[in-house]
Amino acid sequence: MSALSGKVIMITGASSGIGEATARRLAQAGATLVLTARRADRLEALARELDPSRERVMQVPADVTVAAEREALVAITLKRFGRIDALINNAGYGQRGPLELVPMDALRRNYEVNVFAVVALSQKVAPHLRAQGHGRIINIGSVAGRIARPLTAVYDSTKHALEGITDGLRAELAPFGVQVVMIRPGFISTEFADAAQANAAETVADFGPYAPYVENAQNDQTKLRSWAGTPDNVARVVEKALLARRPGAHYAVPMHARLFLFARWLLPRRVLDFVLRLKVRKG
Ligand SMILES: NC(=O)c1ccc[n+]([C@@H]2O[C@H](COP(=O)([O-])OP(=O)(O)OC[C@H]3O[C@@H](n4cnc5c(N)ncnc54)[C@H](OP(=O)(O)O)[C@@H]3O)[C@@H](O)[C@H]2O)c1
Repeated sequence: MSALSGKVIMITGASSGIGEATARRLAQAGATLVLTARRADRLEALARELDPSRERVMQVPADVTVAAEREALVAITLKRFGRIDALINNAGYGQRGPLELVPMDALRRNYEVNVFAVVALSQKVAPHLRAQGHGRIINIGSVAGRIARPLTAVYDSTKHALEGITDGLRAELAPFGVQVVMIRPGFISTEFADAAQANAAETVADFGPYAPYVENAQNDQTKLRSWAGTPDNVARVVEKALLARRPGAHYAVPMHARLFLFARWLLPRRVLDFVLRLKVRKG
């Protein structure tokens, strides 16, 4: 029997990608799961597949940016299972586009999902974890939370903010026996890139003078995506962080994520800026 057997774990963004893979892995480990995201049909299908008896897996469709829906999510979970042992803050998306051209409401929306909703849901769950004297909050950040790139500065800055929030919260909850962990994925094959592309097209109608750089960056991204890990690579690390007696503060996954972070630590800022500079393909 796994140490996660019977633990009540809430996963946001469970309708696809990393959240879905994490749900699969933790269901296999015997955890009791609360799956949430906006796409109710996907959650329903996943919950049914993972636990046909529907005793151990519950789906609660919710938009993490809506306070009443977050409140209902926590209330329904406590009513049904009586406690929460871990919260995995995974829901998120990427706002791309030159900083000069991203409308402020699109920027705010990205912060609402990637940062403010994480804080707000953690605020709702933390009192229960504290009262129990144990529990974990696992935030899905990104290598982009340590390395900000041109043309994705909005998204990258949300993940930088999450780094600070995670580190602060870790120290605040430590005396109460609650551990807070940051996972930093690199490129992972999910719907994320397509969603980010669609979102950029929707929010930034015209890249203006940045257009050639955007095109080149998209080609580079496509090439780099061939290094991408699988959502289960990340799910494995989430499981490791849940099982560890004393979890690390941060985990990077897969290998290229660790290499990027090492390079960031090693290289002088000037060199990093040169590597990350805007480029236009010649010829
Ligand atoms: N893929 C990568 O390369 C990569 C790299 C580093 C970090 N990450 C991070 O990993 C996390 C998961 O992303 P992914 O790669 O698995 O992408 P994904 O497949 O697009 O999954 C994103 C999830 O977030 C949910 N979500 C988005 N907005 C939401 C909202 N307002 N309310 C509730 N749920 C919402 C989506 O569900 P609904 O649309 O159904 O609501 C979906 O389940 C994100 O935080 C992302 O920043 C991804």
